[in-house]
Amino acid sequence: MSAGIIGIGRYNPERVVTNADLEKIMDTSDEWIRTRTGIEERRLANDETDTSDMAYYAAKKAIENAGITAEDIDMILVATVTPDQAFPSVACMLQEKLGAKKVAAMDLSAACAGFMYGLITAQQFIETGAYQNVLVVGVEKLSKITDWNDRNTAVLFGDGAGAAVVSKVTPGKGFLAFELGSDGSGGKHLYQDEKLIMNGREVFKFAVRQMGESSVNVIEKAGLKKEDVDYLIPHQANIRIMEAARERLELPVEKMSKTVHKYGNTSAASIPISLVEELEAGTIKDGDVLVMVGFGGGLTWGAIAMRW
Ligand code: ACO
Repeated sequence: MSAGIIGIGRYNPERVVTNADLEKIMDTSDEWIRTRTGIEERRLANDETDTSDMAYYAAKKAIENAGITAEDIDMILVATVTPDQAFPSVACMLQEKLGAKKVAAMDLSAACAGFMYGLITAQQFIETGAYQNVLVVGVEKLSKITDWNDRNTAVLFGDGAGAAVVSKVTPGKGFLAFELGSDGSGGKHLYQDEKLIMNGREVFKFAVRQMGESSVNVIEKAGLKKEDVDYLIPHQANIRIMEAARERLELPVEKMSKTVHKYGNTSAASIPISLVEELEAGTIKDGDVLVMVGFGGGLTWGAIAMRW
């Protein structure tokens, strides 16, 4: 049996914060941010909108897009490092908000690779036949753990949510291969101690290597070649890291999703938000081979090769 995505949805907060806005509150410049990261603006949620609210908006759209109802969901997985609180989980809050049945619900902590971890966890429940529809959400309100006095990190992040319904799909479509991994020895380079703390250079080095390696690995595991890949959806952390993965796959620029300039790094939400944007724009077509790849605090990484 094949598992794949049958519905998608996203939520981006309305409030736009440009690089020029940040220039007014910290010692930075639009030029520095653009050239080092590719970010031009980001969306930040207002005080009334917490992680579970954004998860709900994206999940509701994904369920509608799948042509099912909340009653049809058999499991809820939420990838986030910025839950409303330690517990109850965002997944449990979402179960109630959606009016879903009293199904299995849990949060998953794998930082920016979280959505990859969520999709592959869902795949196992679908392919064993245990469940029919698993809702996977990647959501972050990073603005609440951002240290607005630290220009090294404050310019990088944004808030948002993306969601997918994972179900049985036509054989040959859906998830073809995956790679998930972790290296706790790198945990010291990116962590939360009330606020987010990062050693940018170390994370950069790791990300450039891992994004390329994992992308190539999933293609090989799927029995495909680089030229079979139609589209790359990398975690939107930094354009230079994304470019490194694209070059490793020898893909032309137009075959890589780029939303980092509009939304910044939204961690677990960045890959599903990009996937929704590309589908809305019509750049991903039926039968296309996609590679999705992410890395994050943990350190963690995850990549998926799939046929849309
Ligand atoms: N504006 C102006 N100057 C700045 C800013 C800023 N916002 N931030 C840092 N600088 C300065 C630094 O102080 C430094 O000055 P110095 O040389 O006088 O000390 C200078 O710019 C250069 O800093 P570098 O660290 O060398 O800049 P670099 O080219 O490495 O870019 C960056 C920094 C963008 C953070 C990069 O290292 C990076 O992208 N790292 C990976 C970050 C990432 O992807 N994190 C993912 C997190 S995922 C998750 O799990 C949440």
